[in-house]
Amino acid sequence: MAMQRAAAAVVVVLLPLLVAAAGTSALPFIVLHGIGDQCANHGVAQFTKLLAEWSGSDGHCLEIGSGTWDSWVMPLQQQADIICNKVKEMEQLRSGYNIVGLSQVKNFISLGGPHAGTASVPLCGSGIFCIIVDALIKLEIYSDYVQEHLAPSGYLKIPTDMADYLKSCRFLPKLNNEIPDKRNATYKERFSSLENLVLIMFQDDAVLIPRETAWFGYYPDGAFDPVLPPRKTKLYEEDWIGLKTLDEAGRVKFVSVAGGHLGNLQR
Ligand SMILES: *[C@@H]1O[C@H](CO)[C@@H](O)[C@H](O)[C@H]1NC(C)=O
Repeated sequence: MAMQRAAAAVVVVLLPLLVAAAGTSALPFIVLHGIGDQCANHGVAQFTKLLAEWSGSDGHCLEIGSGTWDSWVMPLQQQADIICNKVKEMEQLRSGYNIVGLSQVKNFISLGGPHAGTASVPLCGSGIFCIIVDALIKLEIYSDYVQEHLAPSGYLKIPTDMADYLKSCRFLPKLNNEIPDKRNATYKERFSSLENLVLIMFQDDAVLIPRETAWFGYYPDGAFDPVLPPRKTKLYEEDWIGLKTLDEAGRVKFVSVAGGHLGNLQR
C-alpha cells in the first residue's frame, strides 16, 4: 500500500510534464534506477509501467550491466558511458526523450538524486555482496582503488575534506564544474538547454545527507552546518553548470514530497 501511494504521488507530479512535453505525439521517456536497485525489481518495473500508462508515452527502464551489483561497483563515468551508448542505439529515442532519474534531452526529472553530493555512503544492507561493499567503504574513500570499485564514492562529498574531494573524486566535481580551472562550458551549455529540470526531494529522506542535495542544496565548504538552500550555494551563485540560468528562466521545479528515500518505491 505504502509503495502504491508513494508511487502514485510521484507519478501525479510527473504526469503533466511528460504529457505537456509530448505534445500530440508522445515523447518516450527512459528511467534510470538508483543504487542497489534494478529494472527487474517490482518497484521500478511498476513505476515505469504506471508512468507509461498514465502519460500515454513509451517508457524504458535502461539497465547497466548486471543491475544491482554494477550499480554499486561500476564507476559512475563508466555507467554514464553505457547509458549514453544505449540511448544512441535506440531508434525509439531518435526524436527526443525525457529522462526520469531515480535517485540520475528535453526534461530531466530526478527523484532523490545526490546532485550536490552526499556526505555519507548509502547503507548497503545485508547479503553477501554488501560485505564487500562495506569493506570498501571503510578504506580511503578518495583513493584510486575505492574510486574504481565503489560507485557511490563518485558523489561522496565530505564538506570538511574538500581538498581531497576536488582532487581525487572522479565523478561529481567534474560533472558539477566544481574544479575552478577545469570547468567545461559544454556541460553548462547542455544542462542550461533543458526545457524542464524537475528536482524531487523526499521530506524524510535518510539516505541522502543532507536531503536537500536532491535540490542541489548542500553544506558550505568546511562545515556540516548549516545546510545551504540551492540558491545560496556557490554552484548556483556562480552558475557553474547553468542551474541559475535555468531557474531564472522558470525552468526548474523544486518539488517536495512526503516520505523517505524513493518513498518505498524501491521494492
Ligand atoms: C567538455 O565536455 C565535452 C562533452 O562531454 C567533451 O566533448 C569535451 O572534450 C570536454 N572539454 C574539455 C576541455 O574537457
